[in-house]
Amino acid sequence: MKIAVPSETVTGESRAAASTDSVKAYVKKGYAVAVQAGAGAGSNISDADYQAAGASIIKGVDVVKDADIVLSVRRPSDAVLKAMQKGAVLCAGLEPYGERKGLDTIAKSGVTAFAMELMPRISRAQSMDILSSQANLAGYKAVVDAAAYFGRALPMMMTAAGTIPAAKVFIMGVGVAGLQAIATARRMGAIVSATDVRKATEEQVKSLGAKFVFADVADAATSGGYAKELSAEDKAKQAKLVADHVKNQDIVITTALIPGRPAPVLITQDMVESMKPGSVIVDLAVERGGNCPLSKPDQIVLHRGVVIIGTLNLAGKLAGNATPLFAKNLLNFIDTLVGKDGKLAINFDDELVKGTLIAKDGALVHKMFEGAK
Ligand code: NAI
Repeated sequence: MKIAVPSETVTGESRAAASTDSVKAYVKKGYAVAVQAGAGAGSNISDADYQAAGASIIKGVDVVKDADIVLSVRRPSDAVLKAMQKGAVLCAGLEPYGERKGLDTIAKSGVTAFAMELMPRISRAQSMDILSSQANLAGYKAVVDAAAYFGRALPMMMTAAGTIPAAKVFIMGVGVAGLQAIATARRMGAIVSATDVRKATEEQVKSLGAKFVFADVADAATSGGYAKELSAEDKAKQAKLVADHVKNQDIVITTALIPGRPAPVLITQDMVESMKPGSVIVDLAVERGGNCPLSKPDQIVLHRGVVIIGTLNLAGKLAGNATPLFAKNLLNFIDTLVGKDGKLAINFDDELVKGTLIAKDGALVHKMFEGAK
């Protein structure tokens, strides 16, 4: 069996879908691995490193020509899709809720495509969950970036020249990114509070030593572990609570997402203007419309003295960690697609396959596309 790893072509994508460790693991299983020349550059993995791990290095998209499985971090280019064999497997972050035309192109290419973002949230699949592995890094980086733009220190310091108060950090959305943001801000000595619409997060927030701020809204948790949209009444309750809390915060990190929907607006312009000059907001949801209407994708906005950071792909800024974790997620998933004889043996009844398979035999097949055009 042959596995191929083309270079990423989405602008600014620094991660790669294979690490030297994942290449070694595939080779140990008896697979041939081909990596496109330069694919690891953004993660500081050289062609020689991949070669030493057992991969062959191929120039250009020919790398995928006779591959059984193609691995990618983001949607591959049209050239890669064209070069792939019909029926070959594609495992990648395919943005299933993103632009539809690109999904149609993937389907029409005739590949069997798995969108790794749709991995079911069950314990068996935890080690294959790219959203978790990457969100964890993004949550950490959000706090580090906020600290870099904040014109003051985070921890309390008692000095002969006076006492510096600890900074107040508020985390909105306590999923994987939010939990890591809480832990990071706490480690840096800040006074941390956090909010979410899933009641189960209260205990997690408290166990990390942060204060839980909860509007009295109906629990918005779904059976899949994600949040659903709040009713109009609950949105108003939440907005009031947040408005009162935010004006006293130095740093606000927003991570709130609802699968398949635009990100909920949590920090309005009025709330931004109620914050002290020098405060910092990091909007991790900017890619999906943002939790703050003033944030702009990949820009640092200064609004009445408040810095609003909208950096895209924060995990990609830590590619040295993000790539090995992403690659391991893929490796673990590939294991489930291969039979004992080392050949592809996809069990289309497997929950993981049903959850992630979005295209097969020239058509989009996932239930999320039923009735959608
Ligand atoms: P996410 O990235 O979809 O959303 C981030 C957070 O925003 C969530 O906690 C969500 O409840 C919150 N949110 C949504 N709307 C909000 C609003 N209006 N106000 C405030 N907060 C709002 O979530 P993520 O990080 O993917 O995690 C969701 C859950 O899934 C977590 O409980 C996590 O532990 C669980 N999980 C389970 C896995 C497994 O069992 N395999 C793997 C990964 C996560």
